[in-house]
Amino acid sequence: MNQPAQKDSVAVLDRDMAGKNLSGYWRLGMEGLPQQPMTSVEPCLWKWPDVYGSLLRAGELISLENSERRVVRLVNPGLNQQLAFATHTIQISFQYVKPGENARAHRHTPAALRFVVQGSGAYTTVNGQQCTMDPGDLILTPKLTWHDHSNESKEPIVWLDGLDFPLVTALHQVMQERYPERRQPIEKSSEEAIDQLGAARRHNLPLADFFHYKWRDTEPALHGLARSLSVRDRFDGYLLEYRNPLTGGPTMTTIQCALQLLPPGDKTESHRHTSTTIYHAFRGRGATQIGERVFEWEQGDSFVVPLWHDHRHWNRSAAEEAILFSMSDAPALKALDLYREEESAIDERR
Ligand SMILES: [Fe+2]
Ligand SMILES: [Fe+2]
Repeated sequence: MNQPAQKDSVAVLDRDMAGKNLSGYWRLGMEGLPQQPMTSVEPCLWKWPDVYGSLLRAGELISLENSERRVVRLVNPGLNQQLAFATHTIQISFQYVKPGENARAHRHTPAALRFVVQGSGAYTTVNGQQCTMDPGDLILTPKLTWHDHSNESKEPIVWLDGLDFPLVTALHQVMQERYPERRQPIEKSSEEAIDQLGAARRHNLPLADFFHYKWRDTEPALHGLARSLSVRDRFDGYLLEYRNPLTGGPTMTTIQCALQLLPPGDKTESHRHTSTTIYHAFRGRGATQIGERVFEWEQGDSFVVPLWHDHRHWNRSAAEEAILFSMSDAPALKALDLYREEESAIDERR
């Protein structure tokens, strides 16, 4: 006796398709995509005493003999807490190396940058170039460059690490290798490499040779910029972008670094963009309004402006300048033709 034919339905179709690794578009509730880009990354501020206090405690508890690096990561409350990422594209952390210590040589696919916060005389070696670290210096370790950190000075050093780790993770490209020795040999100083990069250059200079922006060079450039009222950007104040001197392009393939100076009392207009920016207050104190919220920052604090969030900055001091160091994922978005920005009008909150 034949079985009666089962009446077909959406539920039966969904069940049968699930068994064949198929799914109907109607199940996703995607009849209307969002009208604006959406992110789960939350605006967030990390206070320096919390970061620095944690680094000092880690300095007592974590040994570089047993741990690859002594690093405290900034964790965005809107993202998977286990991954401990500050944004969906860029990871930020702070690293602490005590006198006499060495963080062993390795290389990895995530690209990294170091912005020195305090301490002088330690060095990072990148592909044989010794980059001696002073406050305000920016040192690049692009993807798959060998790097190790040594502190032969008499004081601890602290720097900010920025990596495109979340982006490289999303692309399933994360890998790391250890150098056969704890330290790589030093072949030259970064100053020698910088000296080769004048307007007239050696024939066939390799493109991967530039890793070090010295504060002693960027600081006069920033203050020189701030003397020309006409070049003030209405959204960012006096903005200096770290360009690759060999290509004229962004700091690294995936990250644009910048410094911005806000004169005493300066207040910018608001805008928004599809890139996400992480700021570190290097000098001074101020506030940044992100949407409806105002984040008060002081020297050493870090904060995130998520994509497509209206934001504006102001310097809270009537006498002192404020300097923000920033990292943006704009180069990655531009490469994918996803970058947009527009001015916006938000009610000023104080
Ligand atoms: Fe590394
Ligand atoms: Fe912005």
